[in-house]
Formats: sequence, structure tokens, C-alpha cells
Amino acid sequence: MKKLRSEEYGGKGKLKEYHVEVLGKQGDRIPISLYASIIYEGGQEVGSIGFFHDMRLRLRLKKELDSAQSQLLQNEKMASLGKLAAGVAHQLNNPLGGIMLYSRLIQEEYELSDPAKADLSRILRDAERCRDTVKELLVFARQTRQEKQFHDINKALSRTLFLLEKQVLFQNILIETRLSADIPLVLGDIQQLNHVFMNIILNAAQAMDGRGKLTISTDLSPDGQKVIIEISDTGPGIPEDVLPHVFEPFYTTKEEGKGTGLGLSLAYGIVESHQGLIMVKNNPDQGSVFVIELPINPS
Ligand SMILES: Nc1ncnc2c1ncn2[C@@H]1O[C@H](COP(=O)(O)OP(=O)(O)O)[C@@H](O)[C@H]1O
Ligand SMILES: [Mg+2]
Repeated sequence: MKKLRSEEYGGKGKLKEYHVEVLGKQGDRIPISLYASIIYEGGQEVGSIGFFHDMRLRLRLKKELDSAQSQLLQNEKMASLGKLAAGVAHQLNNPLGGIMLYSRLIQEEYELSDPAKADLSRILRDAERCRDTVKELLVFARQTRQEKQFHDINKALSRTLFLLEKQVLFQNILIETRLSADIPLVLGDIQQLNHVFMNIILNAAQAMDGRGKLTISTDLSPDGQKVIIEISDTGPGIPEDVLPHVFEPFYTTKEEGKGTGLGLSLAYGIVESHQGLIMVKNNPDQGSVFVIELPINPS
């Protein structure tokens, strides 16, 4: 009433768009926008009137709009980076092919001394590494053909784990799987999806430095339209300043030669081309969680 009587909130006897919180029955806080005024009769206050607007819906819509906008920006950024990467990859493909072809020819057609042989095979090995990177870039930019069929995601995950768990890096990692028996087949390019799973699982193992627990689960979304895959680790998690960048091409926190920074950008591109979503968050206790949502039947 003091504010209502003062001049400062829209004039004497008026309160305009005043924001308050009221407590709901369940103890929940409800944001309210209040308009009020005093009714005068002959200069005397005889009553007051107030309109309380529940702001929850408006605030929720605003939040959804904000997040849609930032998602749009992110998509835009990824698309232009992808185009750039694909351009570079195409430019590199031919000369790389030449380097590899001629190195092999020299290897086969000349009697080389041992040190020269060693040098040459080093050239070949490095050229092959470049070729692999270029290949990943092209997949990232979706310049390769997709072959979509219905696949069992649980099987794909099990197969990926089967390939990985024998590696030294996984020797001291406890793997827990909770694969739902109720998920339907998903229309997708299984080779590419395997690539996504492989990248995320490898990252997890690297983050844990070969020691910890890897948890993989699959579920059907509540609306029954999507398969949700969660891959979490007990590593150090992802620092707040790193989190917004992990899906960017060439972004890596690993030392040179260890990381290309392409794994997650690749995963992002593949999941997007399946009209799915890929997200990452830190586990409140420990480590990070990658969540992938794949629509069962993308249009
Ligand atoms: N499970 C994880 N835990 C902690 N950090 C991670 C995890 N997965 C990815 N990251 C971070 O994201 C960065 C980008 O990952 P990625 O695109 O796969 O590139 P790379 O593995 O070659 O560095 C990594 O360098 C790392 O900093
Ligand atoms: Mg990686």
C-alpha cells in the first residue's frame, strides 16, 4: 500500500506492472505481474483494486524461445564450419592421393637403403593419417552418401563395445550397460551411428584415463517416438568454459597428436542428419553424460 500511495510506481494511487512472487499452496513460487490502483471518493481512499497476472506461461515461452534461438545460432555456426571443412578436405584429397601413390611406387620400384625405407614408410604413415582426418571431415560435412535402414541400436552399441573393450585403454574400466528391450528399430546409417558411439565412448575412456566406470543405457522416450542413448563416465567432467565448444570442429583440449578435435563435431553432424539431438552435461557427482536422441522414423 505504501508503494501504491507513492508517486514512483506509475503515479499516486497506481501500481503498474509490479513484479512480485507469491507462494502457491504447494510452496511453489509463482511470479506475478501486479497492476493495482486505489479508489478515491472525494479525496478519501475508499478501496483498492488489483489485477494479478500469473507469469509462468509467459516466462516459460520466453525461455523456450531463447533456447530455440541459441540452438538455431549453433546450427548456423556448425553448418558454415562444415562447409569450410569440406572445402579444405576436397582440396587436400587429390594431392594426398598423389603423395601416397608415389611413395608406394618408390617403395616398390627402387632398391632403397634401410634408412631411406624407414623415412619413406614414415611419409606414408603420416599421409595415411592425413587421409583419415580428411575422411572424417568429409563425413562431418555429410559429403558421403547415407544408407539408411532399420537397425537395432542395442546391437550396434554392443558391437562397438565388443570392439573397444579388448583395447588396453579399457582394461581397468568397468562397463555397465542398461539396454532397454523395448526400443524399436531405428531408421539410420548404422556405420555412421557406430562412429558416433565409438567416438563418445573413446572420449569417455580417455577422460577417465583408463580407470573408472562407463555406463551406457538405452530407453524409449515417453512419447514413444525416439530412442534415447545415454553414455556417462566417471572422469573429471567438462569445465564450464570448454562445454560450449566441444562440438566445434578442431576443438580439442588434448595435446598435439592425441586429439584431432573432430570426433564430436563429426558425431554432431551425423546425429543431425538423422534429425536427432546430441547433448552433453556434467554429472552432478562426477564425470560427464552424453545424451543422444534419435527419432525412430525420421521424415
Ligand atoms: N567424456 C568426456 N569427458 C571430458 N571431456 C570430454 C569428454 N568428451 C569430450 N571431451 C572434451 O571435448 C573435446 C573435443 O572432443 P572431440 O571432438 O572428440 O575431440 P578430441 O577427442 O580429438 O579432442 C575433448 O578434447 C575434451 O576436452
Ligand atoms: Mg575424441
